[in-house]
Amino acid sequence: MEVTIIGCGYVGLVTATCLASIGHMVRGVEKDAQKLKTLQEGHCPIFEAMLADLMKEQCRAGRLRFAGDVSSAVRDAEMVFLCVGSPPKPDGTVDLSYLDDAVAELCEALQGRIGGHMMPVVVKSTVPPGTSRRVSRILREKTKANIEVVDNPEFLREGSAVKDFLEPERIVIGTESPDAMRMMRRLYDPVIQRPESFLTMNWESAELTKYAANAMLAARISFMNEMTILCEGYGADIEAMRQALGLDHRIGPWFLKGGVGYGGSCFPKDVAALEHISRNVGHESLFVRAILAVNSGQKTRFFRKLVAKLGRPIQQAQIAVWGLAFKAETDDIRESPAIDIIRYLLDAQAYVRATDPKAIPNMKRVFGDRVEWCEDPMTAAADADAVAILTDWPQYCTLSYEKVAAVMKRPVLFDGRNCLHPEMMKEAGFEYHSMGRPAVDRRV
Ligand code: UGA
Repeated sequence: MEVTIIGCGYVGLVTATCLASIGHMVRGVEKDAQKLKTLQEGHCPIFEAMLADLMKEQCRAGRLRFAGDVSSAVRDAEMVFLCVGSPPKPDGTVDLSYLDDAVAELCEALQGRIGGHMMPVVVKSTVPPGTSRRVSRILREKTKANIEVVDNPEFLREGSAVKDFLEPERIVIGTESPDAMRMMRRLYDPVIQRPESFLTMNWESAELTKYAANAMLAARISFMNEMTILCEGYGADIEAMRQALGLDHRIGPWFLKGGVGYGGSCFPKDVAALEHISRNVGHESLFVRAILAVNSGQKTRFFRKLVAKLGRPIQQAQIAVWGLAFKAETDDIRESPAIDIIRYLLDAQAYVRATDPKAIPNMKRVFGDRVEWCEDPMTAAADADAVAILTDWPQYCTLSYEKVAAVMKRPVLFDGRNCLHPEMMKEAGFEYHSMGRPAVDRRV
């Protein structure tokens, strides 16, 4: 099938590359001149496992091409995807201006088309319920082309996006048109795992499913983070509890890891948006507000614990921050808990030496020379009063902690992701504080 993807950001590029890899002829449209140049030269502008190689392969095979202009790219298209960003506005509502611009350009590009074969226009951006209906109305008013709008939310996780696309647990299709539904079925046929994982519903159900899925996962994390407070208060162990809860198949083991809070480009924005989406139908969602409050409280709680247990004043203390990305295996720092926690540390006049395997260039743009940037965890820990682990990079689990202790001023570690074993830290001579687990305190 000839597919045009408008917007080659994270979702668009993964969608374009993966659709090409299953045999479709794909054109990606990118407005940003610098990014377009990178793509046209065959380079992948983002860090995502497997994506760069797959992209190069598809470009070489001639199935994936990039352009800067919508009109030439939609000329032969049988299907158009809208994959532009839908970022949050300062008040938490969704900024749909990129989508509106893309729809306006599409209308312009389709001026010459009258009737013809039905072309699905697929909204892949995360949008509030009612948006696809509005897009459909605009396209019908402003063009004479035979178009059906489809809402097709994405469920990709950063770090495993290619795998998630090629082996999806479910594909959600919101449309009112049986013909568009059949075309979507044909498009995705090679990746549909089981017939029942291809779900069709109306526009609003599909749009809301995306927000509900992210809010449900965020709620599980916030619930467990709330439990870390009780565990610390009563001397219980959140990790033991997590295993026990996860074995109940009605609960399941996923997204139950407590820590310094969730981050990323999706959970924070989508949960905040759901608060406004609720308000639009006259409902004040206490539930959504609680998810948000627990998540932000967890970051301040981590900082306060660090200050309380540091064993010296925080002013002029040297703190090694390990992990800047919002999760492991990505260089993405959007809404990363590390941003808030470093800010609290700097505001309290601590010296911060930070390290991360991938995310230093991005975090440098936030803090510049207010933070000392270190290539590796050992260098960051040298002479430190404490280490704070803020991202669960696997390489932090396999270090020799006797050696880490030897280079620090005092062997104190605050593990915001429960990466390490308290027993191991005790043997290495550490004072060790994690989230929702009994502390290893050398002074006791
Ligand atoms: C999330 C969803 O998992 C995807 O299904 C969705 O498609 C995507 O958002 C999106 O809307 O585009 P992603 O943001 O890549 O994917 O990251 P996750 O792996 O879900 O992690 C989100 C945050 O939750 C991270 O900060 C992570 O450290 C945290 N987390 C995750 C926990 O604190 N505990 C857990 O048990 C799991």
